[in-house]
Amino acid sequence: MRAGLPAYTRRVKSQDLLERYRDLLADAGERFAISLGEGGTPLVHARRLGDEMGLRSLHLKFEGMNPTGSFKDRGMVLAVNRAVSAGARAVVCASTGNTSASAAAYAAAAGLPCHVILPAGRVARGKLAQALAAGARLVMIDGNFDEALTAVRRLGEEGAAVVVNSINPHRLAGQQTGAWEVVDTLGRAPHALALPVGNAGNITAYWRGFRRYAEEGRLTADELPRMLGFQAEGAAPIVLGRPVESPETVATAIRIGNPASWVGATTARDESGGVIETVTDEEILDTQRMIIQLEGVFCEPASAAAVAGVRRLAAERRIGPDEVVVCVLTGHGLKDPDAVQADEGTLTPIPPELGAIREAMEL
Ligand code: F0G
Repeated sequence: MRAGLPAYTRRVKSQDLLERYRDLLADAGERFAISLGEGGTPLVHARRLGDEMGLRSLHLKFEGMNPTGSFKDRGMVLAVNRAVSAGARAVVCASTGNTSASAAAYAAAAGLPCHVILPAGRVARGKLAQALAAGARLVMIDGNFDEALTAVRRLGEEGAAVVVNSINPHRLAGQQTGAWEVVDTLGRAPHALALPVGNAGNITAYWRGFRRYAEEGRLTADELPRMLGFQAEGAAPIVLGRPVESPETVATAIRIGNPASWVGATTARDESGGVIETVTDEEILDTQRMIIQLEGVFCEPASAAAVAGVRRLAAERRIGPDEVVVCVLTGHGLKDPDAVQADEGTLTPIPPELGAIREAMEL
């Protein structure tokens, strides 16, 4: 900061994510013009949920608390800062929703046009609203995420715009900060870290992040966690070992049939001694409800897939009761209000009379 400038004129404060991890992320003398206050998300010790699952040390890394409500902001902040430095005229992404919401917000802050290519009819309402509100240019395709990403790769090669999907290496570089924060907050690495797998960038980035901390001497090699990835049963290419042409799941964020970071995900699994398995849509929705009703933490369906998977592994004794387990809740529940499954109460109005209200409350 230049002498004489009041502190509030600085957009990026020293506690902001890219400044906190400058030693691991930045080039010498690099300046970051854009921040929305990403990162620093809560790690909630889930005691009631853990009791239910037979785990004493279960923690939820609530990435829904990022500025646009998902983990995407950790990588988007670096990708957009660097796109600006490189003189980009526009950014573009394919998305199941969250990447587009994040790209739209950071591009707006940078004053850059943002184009998003989306699978028609499969993007959660909240995510669509975010991209629209930020002024992104939406293109809906009569196809799925994989087809949208294929088109975006071509547009990037043609130089029309900078691609800010996770095939942009700055995205995964920034997403390593999730792993670093988990270690910094716990004071150690967990025994196991679970997350949903869609395009497979995040599991790749977390594993890279843990490995990097080991290289830096902030962890020892035998402290590295097992990586547990979960795909929805109808969209499980990595588990099946082949692309899925028409992926289907209620967890639209991970409705992906041919993940870009496939090899990164299997490397994370194999090097860490972890697993990548499936969970059903029913398990996902049931677990989403358990998380909010036992812990007060509202995540979107895709995020609940990780907890559903851990629940299954704990029940099968493949995770021990005293292991330290972290589940990454990748996105906020408010993004997808249509997915909420509630079984109590009624939305049908009754007369505004105390007697009727008492009766409805079953008092
Ligand atoms: N959870 C949420 C909430 C997501 O939005 C995504 C991916 C994932 C998990 C999977 O992460 O792709 O790194 O394996 N969403 C992308 C998008 C595809 O377009 O928003 P991944």
